[in-house]
Amino acid sequence: MDWQAAAGRFTPPARLAVIGDPIGHSRSPQMHNPALQSCGIDAQYIRVQVPVGQVAAAFRQFAACGFLGVNITIPHKFEALDAVDVLDPLARQLGAVNTLAIRAGRLHGYNSDGPGFLRSVKEAFGADIQDLRVLILGAGGGAGRAVAVQSALSGCQKLLLVNRSHAKAEAVAGEIRALGVGAEVAVVPWHDGALREALAGVDLIVNATSLGMKPGDAALFPQDALQARHLVFDMVYRADGETPLLAEARLAGAQTVGGLSLLLHQGAISFEHWFDRPAPLKVMREGLQNAAMVGLST
Ligand SMILES: NC(=O)c1ccc[n+]([C@@H]2O[C@H](COP(=O)([O-])OP(=O)(O)OC[C@H]3O[C@@H](n4cnc5c(N)ncnc54)[C@H](OP(=O)(O)O)[C@@H]3O)[C@@H](O)[C@H]2O)c1
Repeated sequence: MDWQAAAGRFTPPARLAVIGDPIGHSRSPQMHNPALQSCGIDAQYIRVQVPVGQVAAAFRQFAACGFLGVNITIPHKFEALDAVDVLDPLARQLGAVNTLAIRAGRLHGYNSDGPGFLRSVKEAFGADIQDLRVLILGAGGGAGRAVAVQSALSGCQKLLLVNRSHAKAEAVAGEIRALGVGAEVAVVPWHDGALREALAGVDLIVNATSLGMKPGDAALFPQDALQARHLVFDMVYRADGETPLLAEARLAGAQTVGGLSLLLHQGAISFEHWFDRPAPLKVMREGLQNAAMVGLST
């Protein structure tokens, strides 16, 4: 591909992008382009499909074409770790890079998913993670691991990790203990009895699995395990409305927040890395809400 020619086709010029494979369904342009416009920044945010194994090469091309930054989504967040010149310490701890800032030709890698999660929790529930006992389903996946490590680093009161492949949750628990931050972390087996007991002793429940993305997906746990005092955070969002978990949580009287909130806040933090100024959150939120919800991605 002739990157210079491709980048030159856009007005305003393409200076920011989200990469993934596939990438056509990403909602990030609908959030970032109104933000750029409202801040008077002469730049456009585009989607670029990048195959696995090509992330480092793509980053160099972006730098050569004068790009300012890139968001990285599935499946490239891990590959991006090794493709940057300067890795932010938090991104190293969270084990993934989802934001690239290009400064004077140097590639700086960040993770905005972890801090974005904290902002979502604060905004949705008025709560700080250090005051909460947290259970994460899907803690062995990329997003779940990042949220688990972020919760531990931020001093949550208790951290319970659940994952279909139990060994992956054990590995994440081991990594968290090795951080030496003093977080109380335990792994809960994925079966109804153990989950019911674990849920009775936590405040915040996070779904970081991909369950709930498709109609007919299995329930995560028995519905009667949900209580009105629970705070329920579903990282999944989907085109046809509320996820089954959020619908059940609402019926139980619990407070809820969906994946769109995380998408918004991680995007705002990326914007702050690129432009060293507060992100226009209201404009970004409206952009996301106006976008037709036809898929899932950052
Ligand atoms: N809102 C946002 O901005 C945002 C940001 C990031 C991610 N997400 C969402 O978070 C979810 C996870 O993303 P990811 O990047 O972490 O993906 P990932 O690395 O592929 O992890 C997938 C997770 O889901 C679990 N899982 C998959 N199918 C399952 C099933 N049938 N039963 C039980 N567990 C199952 C996996 O368990 P195993 O380890 O056993 O395979 C793993 O824990 C996705 O829905 C993604 O769209 C949202």
